[in-house]
Amino acid sequence: MILVLNGPNLQRLGTREPSVYGAETLQDLADLCRDTGRKLGEHVEVRQTDDEAEMIGWIHEAIDGRIPVVLNPAAFTHYSYALRDAIAQRTAPLVEVHISNPAAREEFRHTSVVAGVATGTIAGFGLQSYVLALHAIAEKKPTS
Ligand code: DQA
Repeated sequence: MILVLNGPNLQRLGTREPSVYGAETLQDLADLCRDTGRKLGEHVEVRQTDDEAEMIGWIHEAIDGRIPVVLNPAAFTHYSYALRDAIAQRTAPLVEVHISNPAAREEFRHTSVVAGVATGTIAGFGLQSYVLALHAIAEKKPTS
């Protein structure tokens, strides 16, 4: 089991700034992640929330179950110390992903408060960022 967690505004994929985030929807993203999971022999569950408390609750659930996570924290990336503190308690892998490359965008996106407590970060490859992250987790799992 791998959890794919998405933060605020990502349910608006497809209509949200398509020049930055592409034309595919959250449903397309969920299908892609589940298909990738099937190929890797992993059950993948995809969730999205705009609510910081709900996201932190899901991180606690993953920690308690030692469930690996692919996380797109969206705007929480740049300021949520509460999310960072939750992730810091993890023992299973957690890969931070971004559809766009935040380092190539506005200055406020250059800081990730999550990156320092993630296993690693994959950014800038569109929805493929999630596929790469799922592969990274599937390959890392036996040793972590
Ligand atoms: C994002 C990048 C963030 O800066 C932004 O706030 C998002 C999406 C991405 O996937 O490219 O909501 O995480």
